[in-house]
Amino acid sequence: MSRIVLHERNRPYSIKVGEEEKHICACGLSEDKPYCDGHHKQTLDEKDGIFIYDSEGNRVKVQSMYQNP
Ligand code: FES
Repeated sequence: MSRIVLHERNRPYSIKVGEEEKHICACGLSEDKPYCDGHHKQTLDEKDGIFIYDSEGNRVKVQSMYQNP
């Protein structure tokens, strides 16, 4: 089984763990999940729409992820 997960945020969540601040990936592109590794910078110029990124970081804009029955 596979799933498509949509991520609408283009920056990490910041949380405190004790005295340390951690950055949690919310864009879905990090290669060090659950932590942010900076890959969200690829998304900063996204305009409205839905985008898919391949493993090399190439971006494709799609019209729709779903079809109405
Ligand atoms: S929020 Fe995903 S890599 Fe930074």
